[in-house]
Amino acid sequence: MTLSQVMNATEANLLGTIHGGNIMKAVDDAAGSVANRFAKGPAVTAAMDEMTFLVPVRVGDILHVDARVNWAGHSSVEVGVRAEVDRWDEVSERTHVATAYLVFVAVDEDGSPRPVPELELESEEDQRRFREAQIRRRHRLARREAIRASRDESGEGGEP
Ligand SMILES: CC(C)(COP(=O)(O)OP(=O)(O)OC[C@H]1O[C@@H](n2cnc3c(N)ncnc32)[C@H](O)[C@@H]1OP(=O)(O)O)[C@@H](O)C(=O)NCCC(=O)NCCS
Repeated sequence: MTLSQVMNATEANLLGTIHGGNIMKAVDDAAGSVANRFAKGPAVTAAMDEMTFLVPVRVGDILHVDARVNWAGHSSVEVGVRAEVDRWDEVSERTHVATAYLVFVAVDEDGSPRPVPELELESEEDQRRFREAQIRRRHRLARREAIRASRDESGEGGEP
């Protein structure tokens, strides 16, 4: 799915370019729409990987956020998102502004995880995305586990 929108002056930061939080919201909206449709019901954002902003987005630019399911597990999915812009004042190739990977978990009425459908991989590209998503998942879970273990060891607990 691709969501497109014109960026408004109300979304600008003190420098006059678009505030990163607004781009993150557009990314979360697109990824969430894809996850909800794939899960055939509500899915909540569980995690968002590091997101790098490559170039500024300007007021008037048209932001396109392309989101797709890369991987599906038992109740979670990874959605890959690529954000690009058409500059408002020139006809040229789209500019890549950011890439992000988000994890969504399908939930029932009580907010508990529920199963998602199996992801059908149709192309070589799908297979590659799936394999790379598996690597990211291993890293996410390992990092979460290592932080938990470190807190248990220190006995400090606490918030990040
Ligand atoms: C997301 C949420 C439903 C997970 O609940 P939970 O009881 O921790 O779920 P579980 O430990 O059973 O894990 C469920 C699945 O999510 C995955 N998961 C949960 N947290 C994750 C994280 N931080 N990173 C990656 N995967 C995660 C698990 O690996 C598991 O995947 P699988 O079923 O495909 O194997 C719960 O933490 C929640 O409701 N969080 C708030 C979500 C929210 O409100 N988001 C909006 C933005 S604030």
